[in-house]
Amino acid sequence: MIETITSPAAMSARAAAFARAGTRVGFVPTMGALHDGHLDLVRTARAENDVAVVSIFVNPQFGPNEDFTRYPRDLDGDLTKLAPAGCSLVFTTDAASMYPRGFSTYVTNDAWSDRFEGAVRPGHFRGVLTVVAKLFHLVRPTTAYFGQKDAQQALLIRRMVADLDFPLQVRVRPTVREPDGLARSSRNVFLSATGRERGVSLSRGLRAAAARFASGERDANALIAAARAELEATPGVSVDYVALVHADTLEDVAHADARSLMLVAARVDGVRLLDNALLSAPTEAAW
Ligand code: PAF
Repeated sequence: MIETITSPAAMSARAAAFARAGTRVGFVPTMGALHDGHLDLVRTARAENDVAVVSIFVNPQFGPNEDFTRYPRDLDGDLTKLAPAGCSLVFTTDAASMYPRGFSTYVTNDAWSDRFEGAVRPGHFRGVLTVVAKLFHLVRPTTAYFGQKDAQQALLIRRMVADLDFPLQVRVRPTVREPDGLARSSRNVFLSATGRERGVSLSRGLRAAAARFASGERDANALIAAARAELEATPGVSVDYVALVHADTLEDVAHADARSLMLVAARVDGVRLLDNALLSAPTEAAW
């Protein structure tokens, strides 16, 4: 039976009890609508710690043309999936509790927040970093787990943990994929059957670029063009960006090397999908 905590104060008290008992807490922050990618994080959190705690909170971190109310929500379904994955405590709360009247303090990153996802979704990373900082204070994890699919988010959270001296480890796990390569995402439920097929073009694009890298191509423009060609050949796919960056700095690179990460974002029949891979090791975690 999973323990469910719904108030920040009760979560904080529970975390203090864990700390007093020396309990190692693995933490997986989520917005719910859980899929195999989340469950992989939960299983890893449990395997590497004494308890696995999951938060389910649809944070208002959406960009201007995105609908907070449309984000998929299925708390009962989520709870059913979490127990077998080894989660024993869920923290789920509402926006009024997390952001009471007068809330006005935010966490921002000046270097990386305005690029890629930040450019398409202004304010998004301020929302993410602020809620993750609050969750870290409330849950006091030993280690927090994130998926590589949201690579920019993972890097920003690592940076925040280092810059603001949070006493915890951040672990990033490789993207969990469908058998045909589509990255698992809560947003996949919005794809029609045709959109679902078209969405595979993102991972096909990454694989095409990785194949070029494996055969010796190092020019960033040529590698980006190889990925773009897959996306642009697929009807219904509109590319937001394809970029080749250094995995640790998110700086654009002109010549690819072992640490070059390709980032892809596209709208597929109106649904925004993301994917990324290290060209030198496309199935492995970048960090
Ligand atoms: O990746 C997500 O689901 C969210 O951005 C997170 C980290 C739970 C913050 O709301």
